[in-house]
Amino acid sequence: MHITVYQLIHVIGIALVVQALGAAVVLAGSDRAARWYRASMIGHGIGTFLILLAGFGMLARLEITGAFPGWVWVKLGIWVIVAALPFLLRRRPNLASAAWALTLVLVAAAATMAIFKPL
Ligand code: HEM
Repeated sequence: MHITVYQLIHVIGIALVVQALGAAVVLAGSDRAARWYRASMIGHGIGTFLILLAGFGMLARLEITGAFPGWVWVKLGIWVIVAALPFLLRRRPNLASAAWALTLVLVAAAATMAIFKPL
C-alpha cells in the first residue's frame, strides 16, 4: 500500500481514539453497559489497532527497519498510554479531568515526534 493510504488510516485511527477518550472522560464512572460507553470502547479498540497498523506500514515505506530512532520509541510509549487510558479511567473516574488534558498533550506530542523528528 502507498504511504499516503497509511497516513490516512493513521489519522482515521487517531480520530477514533480521540473521540473515544472524550466519551470515556465524560462517561467516567457511568454504567459500563451505557450505549455510548460501549460504542466508544469499540472505537477505541479499532482506532488503536489502526494507528499501530498504519504506523508500522509507514515505517516500512520509509524503510525504517531494525533499530528504531528515538521518535518512534516515544510514539510507541504514547500509544501504550493512550491504549491504557480507558482502563485507568474505569478504575479511577476521579482522574477524568487529568485524562482530558493528557489526551491533548499526548496527541500533540505524538504529532510533534512524527513531523519534527527531534530524536
Ligand atoms: C496515539 C498515538 C499516535 C498519534 C496521535 C500519532 C500521530 C501522528 C501524526 C499526526 C502524524 C502526521 C500525519 C501523517 O503524516 O500521517 C503521524 C505520522 C507518523 N506516525 Fe504516528 N501517531 C501515533 C502513534 C504512532 C505509532 C505507534 C507509530 C509507530 C509504530 C507511528 C508512526 C508514524 C510514522 C512512521 C509517521 C510518518 C512520519 C513521516 O511521514 O515522516 N505513530 N503520526
